[in-house]
Amino acid sequence: AEVIIVGSRRAAGALVAEAIERLVAAKADSVLGLATGDTPLPVYRALAERVRAGLDLSSLRGFALDEYVGLPVAHPQSYHSVIANEVVTPLKLDPAAVHVPDGRALGIETAGERYEDAILAAGGVDLQLLGIGTDGHIGFNEPGSSFASLTRVKTLTRQTRADNARFFDSIDDVPVHSITQGLGTILRAKRLVLLAFGAQKAHAVAAAVEGPLTASLPASAIQLHPRATVVVDEEAASMLV
Ligand code: F6R
Repeated sequence: AEVIIVGSRRAAGALVAEAIERLVAAKADSVLGLATGDTPLPVYRALAERVRAGLDLSSLRGFALDEYVGLPVAHPQSYHSVIANEVVTPLKLDPAAVHVPDGRALGIETAGERYEDAILAAGGVDLQLLGIGTDGHIGFNEPGSSFASLTRVKTLTRQTRADNARFFDSIDDVPVHSITQGLGTILRAKRLVLLAFGAQKAHAVAAAVEGPLTASLPASAIQLHPRATVVVDEEAASMLV
């Protein structure tokens, strides 16, 4: 992967927003792969600034990486809510063109296949935004995920639930399962942009970029992608050779 070290989260947001703006200039109805969590927020903020200044993203389509299983859609921490509040509203996207996997218990067995079909019907993801877990996950593909995996239900690791407890009242409120695009799904995107900030991501970033290809560190799968860019701050880059 190409590694770009930036001075701040804000600079990372501006850089990636610029790439997305170029994508939309070339194809207004481009398909953006959306990550949640803290990491992509500087990108969404930079895009929102551009939208306020007149950038039109109304034809942009989107697919989120993942969703918790069993949270009501209207729960403030469901990724349906987060995508609506952090992405669709500020970027003035068409809500009908932005998809999040269906984590409701009813129909969960077929939700993965339906999501894969929707991505294929949209012509695939043009640019996939990724964060990285401290355990090396991308999406919620936890260690041990197959490089060929497609959208399916995965159990969150104890580490991931502890990392995400900050969004909930306590770790016990963090769902145990997620529905996530697979590593195979992610690798089909035409371009990958993985962002990581802070020292707590340094180990996972170094392992993903410079370590062996291994299902034990799912983000190492990005080494298989011909167009993967990693945008990190100095702290997240600190364990790279
Ligand atoms: C979120 C996702 C996860 C996060 C990762 C990092 O949609 O798929 O892989 O990107 O857990 O989370 P943050 O950005 O909160 O550190």
